[in-house]
Amino acid sequence: MPPDPSRIAPPGPIRVGLIFGGASGEHAISIRSAATVAAALRRGENGGRYATSCFYIDLQGRWWGPELAEQVLAQGRPAGPDQLASAPERPGFQGFPAEALAMEVWFPVLHGPNGEDGTIQGLFTLMQVPYVGSGVLGSAVGMDKQAMKAALAAAGLPQVPYVCLEAGDLEADPEAVLERLERDLGYPCFVKPANLGSSVGISKAGDRAALLAGLRTAAALDPRLVVEQGVSARELECAVRGGGPRPLQASVLGEIRYDADWYDFETKYSEGRSHTVIPAEIPEPVAASARTMALQACRAVNASGLARVDFFYSEAGPGEAGEGRLWLNEINTLPGFTSQSMFPMLWEATGVPLETLVDELIQAARDWPRAALQPGGPPA
Ligand SMILES: Nc1ncnc2c1ncn2[C@@H]1O[C@H](COP(=O)(O)OP(=O)(O)O)[C@@H](O)[C@H]1O
Ligand SMILES: [Mg+2]
Repeated sequence: MPPDPSRIAPPGPIRVGLIFGGASGEHAISIRSAATVAAALRRGENGGRYATSCFYIDLQGRWWGPELAEQVLAQGRPAGPDQLASAPERPGFQGFPAEALAMEVWFPVLHGPNGEDGTIQGLFTLMQVPYVGSGVLGSAVGMDKQAMKAALAAAGLPQVPYVCLEAGDLEADPEAVLERLERDLGYPCFVKPANLGSSVGISKAGDRAALLAGLRTAAALDPRLVVEQGVSARELECAVRGGGPRPLQASVLGEIRYDADWYDFETKYSEGRSHTVIPAEIPEPVAASARTMALQACRAVNASGLARVDFFYSEAGPGEAGEGRLWLNEINTLPGFTSQSMFPMLWEATGVPLETLVDELIQAARDWPRAALQPGGPPA
């Protein structure tokens, strides 16, 4: 007879490890996202259901336990050198803070490289502890713009014309690269490193000189590049949750409006330069097709748990038939989760308050043990 689990573990709050920060350009935004998620996990009924311990990954990739993590959340900015004085000299993961091994479920609130890209998901999978959000495959495919575009194209989803390049192509024969991009895409075009996020390293090129400069900037940040035809379009976003045994659900649509030529890093993170319109003021058939495409995009990259799917939308011009055009821009598998972020606001507008959202994300993680979490493989 297997032992009765209730005799071993007395019922009590579930130990949730919320991990944030990270060796990523989006470290600072992760701190704000984590403050929102931690507060929601400690409020109301969630406070009785979950015992939330926070863990901080500094900009060098070293892990820290709850003492420093709570300080960072309270100060709302990255740990300073004085707070990291006891850090090992070597950067990167150096082992777990003592408390980490007791966690029963992990909630990664990390954005960008080293957190949204399958790396930490691989670690949790090896630990055989459930975690919120996409697994290794969905995270990795969702992060890399070349892989993401290939998966979306294979699913037949509309995207603006694009070209994938390696930095080595540019070094080998810049002239040939420029000619190909001018022939296949023209101006304006957008040059993007494949793996960053937050618009870091992205530029809009209106001529050959700007294109070459943009390619060099992006190539210095990432050996994998994507160049896209520029479109003049509105930017819509849809939140998705579910997956595994739970149905995938799409939220109402939101629109990002900003006071700039395009949604660059400075505009994204400067107070008052952008705002959201929820629900987006678009014809219902457009919202319905965006919702369908958002679910298809999640299936295409194997995203689950939570995701935000972003679109370009161009209204029909005078005399044009139909409701205009929609293109998939990108999928984010760990979208911004600050109190001002689209993801929680879209769910709120769809009737799912923040406390319910985080609770259900954890429940979904716990009742969907991934294949790799079942030692011994499939039952005989
Ligand atoms: N093909 C495009 N046409 C027009 N604007 C674009 C295009 N690609 C990117 N942009 C602008 O650049 C922003 C950032 O690009 P995106 O691919 O979403 O990168 P990130 O992953 O860093 O958010 C978009 O929100 C949009 O304003
Ligand atoms: Mg984007």
